[in-house]
Amino acid sequence: MKKYLAVINGRKITTEKCVAIVSPITLKPYGEVSSLTKKDIDTAFTTARSQFAMWSTLTLDARIAYLDKWKEQMVANAAEIVELITYEVGKTKKDAQAELDRTIEYIDETFTEARKITANIIGPDVTGIKNKTGHFFRVPKGVGVSISPFNYPINLAMSKIIPALVTGNTIVFKPATNGSLLGAFLGELTMGILPDGVFNVVTGRGSEIGDEIITNREIDFVSFTGSTRIGKRILDICPSKDVVLELGGKDPAIIVDATNLDYVADQIVLGGLSYSGQRCTAIKSIITTDAIADQLAPILVQKIEALQVGSPLDGAFIGPLISEGAAQFVQTLIDDAINKGGKVLTGNKVIDNLVYPTLIDNVTNTMQLFDEEPFGPLLPIIRVKNIDEAVMIANHSQYGLQASLFGENETELFELAQKINTGSVNINAKSQRGPDIFPFIGVRNSGFGVQGIVDALYSTTRIKGIVVNKR
Ligand code: NAP
Ligand code: G3P
Repeated sequence: MKKYLAVINGRKITTEKCVAIVSPITLKPYGEVSSLTKKDIDTAFTTARSQFAMWSTLTLDARIAYLDKWKEQMVANAAEIVELITYEVGKTKKDAQAELDRTIEYIDETFTEARKITANIIGPDVTGIKNKTGHFFRVPKGVGVSISPFNYPINLAMSKIIPALVTGNTIVFKPATNGSLLGAFLGELTMGILPDGVFNVVTGRGSEIGDEIITNREIDFVSFTGSTRIGKRILDICPSKDVVLELGGKDPAIIVDATNLDYVADQIVLGGLSYSGQRCTAIKSIITTDAIADQLAPILVQKIEALQVGSPLDGAFIGPLISEGAAQFVQTLIDDAINKGGKVLTGNKVIDNLVYPTLIDNVTNTMQLFDEEPFGPLLPIIRVKNIDEAVMIANHSQYGLQASLFGENETELFELAQKINTGSVNINAKSQRGPDIFPFIGVRNSGFGVQGIVDALYSTTRIKGIVVNKR
């Protein structure tokens, strides 16, 4: 059994109570982490506050030097990190390694972009400004809270933590329960590397300590990635309204014309079923006309039924969901669709937390699956009379993360993309968050504010002006 402890002010925190981390691969306890008390959480925040003055007045190069050493510790401990990702969240070792590699690149790119942030000087050379020179700097906001989801336990953690630390903020970090062993381990890797108290990890079930964290009076800003439900709760009760939220999604794949359906089907399988659909940017509906759906459906069935289903330890493409509860939710969406006339083309088989990839045709707006986010390997085909109807469905979804458009005429697709009210639209490819230098946006129930390397740096800083006046 792995055991890692939360780290506050450079010290491991032992607690009477621990949280058992159940691996989705074995459905057995894989490890345990501290379950922190209110007192521990308060200490994390008062420590972050007390260390802010020191950390924020270091030079950027000095902070980068500290953080680069932490990054080197991640590289040196890659094997442990990959194993923790694999067993905590059920990724294959290949995908776990890919997530770590992407995170290392993310950190390096963040250092590069942080160095590009300079003061903006506005002086008498600007028409109408007399005897004044304004120096406008970006300065850190203070104590930040980073809260990450289970599905990218290092990438979606570091994508918040590193931009905040490099610009001079101090952090209290809450990893997802499945991801807490890794979160605590990352905290241990800072010991003797970062100044104590600059980065503090708080572990425990969100349902038990979440409100304690997000109502702390020391919070200056929050970066949260997770479900819409929790994101909205944070907006409601957090004393700071400086909140960036990356939430749920229901990314549609709209097929406009049918010239290369084999490619489209490959993109839908990759986009909709990678990591068993447990991605916010997963394709979560296929919207097209009857003529195209009639041709596309059998191609999708053939590709889906060829996928390896089983354990990530065996490299299976479709692995177990994060929990049996998550799998049961997917089953309820399938049952509801069937009861209301949906036609199962393949799948509809659940064993414990393993959901076989499922494709349901003739999904209509009477069914929960029409606009609910399964967060599992479940794809609906929604048939429309024309593409205008497809755009209307995309724009009326409660979610607005991304969309994908497939067709031959790029000019036409680009114009159509302008009509789709989501964070981003992908033309002729599956939806995805990367490359990480791209702004990553969600609207409506998909988010609030912008992530991505540059926007994350800006969202953790504010403008500070110093105006020099000529007497
Ligand atoms: P979740 O249940 O909302 O949990 C997200 C994080 O919030 C976890 O660390 C969780 O801790 C914590 N949390 C739970 N209750 C809290 C509370 N009252 N106060 C503060 N924090 C609390 O989401 P998830 O199951 O980890 O991830 C799946 C969802 O996140 C999906 O809806 C998916 O679409 C979305 N997501 C969005 C993005 C994006 O970039 N837009 C990326 C990934 C996932 P515990 O684990 O201990 O409960
Ligand atoms: O759900 C995690 C979200 O950030 C998706 O990331 O890179 O798989 O599109 P990605």
